[in-house]
Amino acid sequence: MLVGTMNDNLSADSITRGLETHFIGQRVLYYPRLTSTMEVARQEAQRGAPEGTVVIADEQTAGRGRLGRAWLTPRGNIALSLVLYPRLADLPALIMLASLAVVHSMEAVTGLKSHIKWPNDVQINARKVCGILIETGVRPDRVNYAVIGIGLNVNLRPGDFPPEIQSLATSLSQELGREVPRLTVIRSLLVEMEKLYLTLMAGGSLYEEWRDNLVTLGQRVRVKSAEGIYEGIAESVDRDGSLLLRGAHGQLTRIIAGDVTLRE
Ligand code: BTN
Repeated sequence: MLVGTMNDNLSADSITRGLETHFIGQRVLYYPRLTSTMEVARQEAQRGAPEGTVVIADEQTAGRGRLGRAWLTPRGNIALSLVLYPRLADLPALIMLASLAVVHSMEAVTGLKSHIKWPNDVQINARKVCGILIETGVRPDRVNYAVIGIGLNVNLRPGDFPPEIQSLATSLSQELGREVPRLTVIRSLLVEMEKLYLTLMAGGSLYEEWRDNLVTLGQRVRVKSAEGIYEGIAESVDRDGSLLLRGAHGQLTRIIAGDVTLRE
C-alpha cells in the first residue's frame, strides 16, 4: 500500500452524499474488512435489498476472482459489489456494462486511457488494473439477482503485488506517479454504471462500444475455459459477449467464458 498524506478514508455517507444517481449507490454498506463483498451482496440480494445496493470493503480476507481463483485486496484498493435485478435478456451485457463503466470512470478521474481484455479485465499499458466478477441467481425464466464485483487497483506500489503478478498488474497510482482519491473513483464508477444500466433498460446496446474497446481482437491467443484450452486468432465477439476464435484449420469456436493469454 502507498503510504501518503492523502486522507483516503471511506464511509457509506461520503460515498452516498450528493451522489448523482437515482438508485445505484443510494444504499451503501461499508466494511473496513470482510471476507468478500460478493458474499455480503449475495445475502443482501437474497433478502430483497433495494436494487443498486453497494457493498464495499477496504480489505477482503477471502476475495474471489474469476474461474475459482483468489483475489487479493490489500488496503489502497477498491473492492465493491453491486446488487442488480436485470432482465434475463440483459445478463450478457453486464460484463460490458461493468468494464465500460470502469474505462469511463478511470478516464474521467485520471485521464488515463484503458482497454478491455476479453471478457472483462481492464488494462492500462497491457497490465491489469481491474478485475470483474459477475455472479447471478437465475431460474429458467428469470433472474433472481445479479451481483457485479469490481476489484480496482488504486493506490498500490509494484511491491504490493505478489511477485508472480508484478509484471502483469498495475495500479492507478503506479501509472500516474501519485495517489488517487478512491472516493472520487468510486463515485464516478457508480454514476457511470447507472448511466449504462439505464441505457440497457431503455433497450439500448453496449455491444459496439465494448467490442471497439477490446484489445484482444485480431490477436493470436490461447484461451483457457472450463471446456478446455483453445488456440487461434481472436476473430470477433458476439452480441452475447462470447469470443469467436479461428483455429489453425479454419474452424470457428465460440467461447462463452475463459481466460486469454497472448501468443507470440
Ligand atoms: C478477476 O478474477 O479478475 C475478477 C476479480 C474480482 C474481484 C472483486 S473485488 C470485489 C468483489 N469481491 C470479491 O471477492 N471479488 C470481487
